[in-house]
Amino acid sequence: MSFLSDPLIIGIQGIHRALSRALNVLVDESRQFGNENQVDGKRTEGFRMYARTFCDLLHAHHDGEEELGFIHLRSILSPEDMVALDQEHEVMLEALHALQTYVAAPAPWASSHWLGLHRAAASLLVGWEAHRNNEEQQMVKASARMSHDERVRLAKALEQFGIANAGPGERVVPFILYNLEGKDREAMGSRMPFFMKGILVPFFWRGNYNVMRPFLFPR
Ligand SMILES: [Fe+2]
Ligand SMILES: [Fe+2]
Repeated sequence: MSFLSDPLIIGIQGIHRALSRALNVLVDESRQFGNENQVDGKRTEGFRMYARTFCDLLHAHHDGEEELGFIHLRSILSPEDMVALDQEHEVMLEALHALQTYVAAPAPWASSHWLGLHRAAASLLVGWEAHRNNEEQQMVKASARMSHDERVRLAKALEQFGIANAGPGERVVPFILYNLEGKDREAMGSRMPFFMKGILVPFFWRGNYNVMRPFLFPR
């Protein structure tokens, strides 16, 4: 099976792409806000929801990998490869906690707060980029040694873990879909029930995530 049609790799890459794009938005926007004199309250509210959703999703993504994915990978990959993945997660956890502390602080935020948040997001980005590349390579390697059923089972289990742990669907699902565009959004959407992506996200949930709109790709 080509990894282009591997459900495990499609799922991991889709979430990674959405998280990468979102983290870059957090880095850029927080720097910009930090350099502005006054930030509109509505924009801050949207940014906070966007940043909180990012943090919740990244936590759930890592927990799912550690509790389900890595356990599976340990029986396939070398101990050295696994130590590297574990350590990368640990380094990112520290940066993620720093970012969460900034995001949880009551608004309005002074310029120094925005710039502190910017530094925390930028430091997370450094760890994230190195980890993302390594993890995708290891996943492709491991997946090639799994049976089709194993891949499908693990992809499903990771997905269900994410749904149960990443926070309210009305924030998380649009966050994932609209941090992707074109073929990436299509591939991720194809893994979701039509009722969710075709009815809930564009209509019923719209009011719940609209405030994040300035930071998302257009519908
Ligand atoms: Fe990952
Ligand atoms: Fe990871």
